[in-house]
Amino acid sequence: MSEEARTSIHGQWSSRMVFVLAATGSAVGLGNIWKFPYITGENGGGAFVLVYLVCIAVIGIPVMMAETMLGRRGRQSPINTMSALAAEEGRPPIWSLLGWLGVVAGFLILSYYSVIAGWALSYVFRSASGMFVGATADGVNSIFTSLVSDPEKLLAWHSIFMVATMIVVARGVKHGIEKAVSYLMPSLFVLLIVLVFYAMSTGHFSDGLSFLFSPDFSKLGWQSILVAMGHAFFTLSLGMGAIMVYGSYLPKDTSIAKASMMIAVADTVVALMAGMAIFPIVFANNLQPDVGSGLIFQILPIAFGQMEAGVLIGTLFFILLVFAAWSSAISLIEPAVAWMVENKGVNRIYAAVWCGGLTWFVGLGTVFSFNLWAKDTWSLELFGHFLFKDINFFETLEGFTANIMLPLGGLFIAIFAGWLMKTQSTKNELNTTENGYNVWQILIRYVAPTAVMIVFLKAIGVFN
Ligand code: TRP
Repeated sequence: MSEEARTSIHGQWSSRMVFVLAATGSAVGLGNIWKFPYITGENGGGAFVLVYLVCIAVIGIPVMMAETMLGRRGRQSPINTMSALAAEEGRPPIWSLLGWLGVVAGFLILSYYSVIAGWALSYVFRSASGMFVGATADGVNSIFTSLVSDPEKLLAWHSIFMVATMIVVARGVKHGIEKAVSYLMPSLFVLLIVLVFYAMSTGHFSDGLSFLFSPDFSKLGWQSILVAMGHAFFTLSLGMGAIMVYGSYLPKDTSIAKASMMIAVADTVVALMAGMAIFPIVFANNLQPDVGSGLIFQILPIAFGQMEAGVLIGTLFFILLVFAAWSSAISLIEPAVAWMVENKGVNRIYAAVWCGGLTWFVGLGTVFSFNLWAKDTWSLELFGHFLFKDINFFETLEGFTANIMLPLGGLFIAIFAGWLMKTQSTKNELNTTENGYNVWQILIRYVAPTAVMIVFLKAIGVFN
C-alpha cells in the first residue's frame, strides 16, 4: 500500500486544530488538577516541579512526536500499527507487544481514574447544594472522609462515570470526542484563572509560589525523580498508545512537531495554574501540602466556601473537571476499542461495553482501597532500601502504571522510532525542518532513553 493511500478505518480528524484539541483533551485531566498538586505536595515542591518540567521538555515532547508519528504512519490501533510498522521496517513481529503493554496500562489506569473522576462528579452535587458555604478546613475534611469511607457511594459515582465514558467511546471518534472538547477546555482555563485570583487574595500567594518554584534539592531523592518522570508521561498521555491512536486519525499534511509543542505547553500551563491556585490556600489555612490523594478535594472547597458566588463557581469548576477527566478517559480505552473493532469484527458499541465493563470491574479494587482495604498494604525492600512502603491496592496500581509501565512504553517507543526505523521513514513522516529533525533525533535516540534508564536504575537502587 502506498503511504498516501493509507487511512484509518475509524475515520479522521477534520483538521489539525481538532487533533490538537482532542489530544489536549486527553492530556489535560485529573493528572493536571488532581495529581500534579498532590504529588508536588508529597515530594517537597520546587525541586520536584523543576525535574517534572525538564522531563516534559526533553522526554515528553520528543516521545509525543514519536508516538504521534508512529500512529499516523501505521493508521491502526497501536497493536496493529506496531506489527505493521515492524514488518515494514524489517523488525521482528514481537514489537506488537508494545501495543499490548499499552492496552493493559490503559485498562489499569482507567480503572482508578474513573473512581477519582467519580469523586469530582460527587463534588458537583456537594457544591451545588451549598455544603461548602462557610465550611472550615475541618468541615471540608469530614465531607471528604465521609465520601471515601463509603464504598457504596464510591461505587455509584464510579459506575456513572464509566457508563458516560462508554457512551462517548461507542459513538466514535468524530461524533463523540471532537465536539465535547472544543469549548469545555477553554472554560476550564477561565475558571482556573478565577481560582488563581482568589489565591492571590489569601495573603499567602507568595508562600504558594515559593513552594512551587524555589527548588530545594535536599528534599529530592531518586524516588521523587521517578515520580516526576512518570508524571510527565502520565500528564501528556504518553507511553500507552493513546496519543498513537489519536495520531492514526491525523491528516497527512499536519505538522506533528508544532502540534506536540502546543499540546505540551497547554498541558503544563494548566498544571502550574492548578498549583498556583491550590498551595496558597493550603498555607493560608495552616494546612500541610502532603496529605496525599485527597488534596484538592480538601482544599478547593474551602475557597469556594469563602468566595463571592462560591456555590456557582465551585459547581462549575467540578463540572468542568469532570469533563476534563471524561475527555481523558476516552483516550485510555480507545486503543483497546480500536483493536477489537479491527481484529474481532465487532462494532464500536460492543467493544466499548466489553472494555468498559472490564475496567469497571478492576475499578472495584480502587473503590475498596479507601475503605475496606485501606489497611491492606504491602512493602517491597530491594538493595537495602524500600522500593514501596505500606502501599495499598490503589497506590500500587497508580505507582506501577505511571512510574513503571508508561516510562517503559515510552522507552520502547523511543528505541523503535529513534533506532529501528529508517531515518528516511521518520524524516518523511515528521516532515519538519532539517534542524528540527536533528534536535528530535538526538533527543529520541540518546537523551530520552538514557534518562529513563538512569532514573529507573537509580530509583531501584541498583547503584548508589
Ligand atoms: N493525561 C491524562 C491526565 O493528565 C490521563 C491520561 C489520558 C493518560 N490518557 C492517558 C495517562 C494515556 C497515560 C496514558 O489526566
